[in-house]
Amino acid sequence: MAFKDMYALATDGSKWTVPQNFDACFNWDYDDGRAGMMGLYAKGKEMQWDAANRIDWSQELGEDNPEGMPEESLPIHMAGCYLKMSDREKARVRAHFQAWQLSQFMQGEQGALICAAKIVTQVPDADSKFYAATQTIDEARHVEAYKRLLSKFKIAYPMTKPLQELIDQTLRDSRWDMTYLGMQVVIEGLALAAFGQIRDHAQNQLCAQVNAYVMQDESRHVAFGRLALRDYYPQLTQKERDEREQFLLEASHLMRDRFDAVELWQNLGLPIEECATAMYESGFMEKFRNSLFTRIVPIVKDIGLWGDTIRKGYEEMGVIEYAKANVQKLQDEDEFIAQQFDARRRDIQRVIDRAAQAAE
Ligand SMILES: [Fe+2]
Ligand SMILES: [Fe+2]
Repeated sequence: MAFKDMYALATDGSKWTVPQNFDACFNWDYDDGRAGMMGLYAKGKEMQWDAANRIDWSQELGEDNPEGMPEESLPIHMAGCYLKMSDREKARVRAHFQAWQLSQFMQGEQGALICAAKIVTQVPDADSKFYAATQTIDEARHVEAYKRLLSKFKIAYPMTKPLQELIDQTLRDSRWDMTYLGMQVVIEGLALAAFGQIRDHAQNQLCAQVNAYVMQDESRHVAFGRLALRDYYPQLTQKERDEREQFLLEASHLMRDRFDAVELWQNLGLPIEECATAMYESGFMEKFRNSLFTRIVPIVKDIGLWGDTIRKGYEEMGVIEYAKANVQKLQDEDEFIAQQFDARRRDIQRVIDRAAQAAE
């Protein structure tokens, strides 16, 4: 089946272009770069994996609930319009919601691919170019893995408008650090929160595994943003930092309030307002927002964008406390969980091999 035939909603043409206005920057200094950055580059090279052989793609999805997610994870599971449906209709809504969400992952990964390539071209430091090159291939592999998973649904959705808005703003900005801020801090934080929900709650092993492996890479990408920006932001004026803080606040509001999937509800012929309200108020979204700010706020503080503007804004949003979250611990966990999936697969393989030997 051609991918375009999987789209449940028409895309706006088959391409999207974002005008660019920045200098491509060469660097003639080939001395070894910063130790931290070169260490991350070494890790980036070493930790490459191939979805074609790390994952057993013969695993199938569930029939009524492809990812095997708990019913509470469907943000409209308590809405009147959903409660009235037959089991068959409910299964259809579940499949479409999960495919919509996965489509956003896949589309967002293409955004990350393009942003990482922009960083390679634009960033002045050679060590950052090296690292960003490893991220570029990571993101291509992520697009590939999500596309394969989505193909099992045979349903896809276009990039949702709020995500497109965020990526557009990130790409359009001609200042190199804004690509990092928009992609490595904001969108990767959003991604980690969303991927984590599937990784930690999906009963379907294939779905959980794909997300675990992608997250293993994403935590390196966030670390990259931290390293690059932590060195850079102290050199800016307060006014320049204020502009960045303002951008972060706007992006935080957008992520908190605007990811309401209206196009999905509309496509399914459901009452949009009822669904969007149910989604906003659902417990699962509440958990998602917690996880989102746990991933983002401590990083913002760590890179030194912690002036009055942002502190006041985060206080008003009620998320300032997240600054205390332990990001390193989360990243170590992301790594550990991915390794557990590898170990599980090795165990299964051992059992299969032993059974085959016994049969001989
Ligand atoms: Fe990615
Ligand atoms: Fe990434």
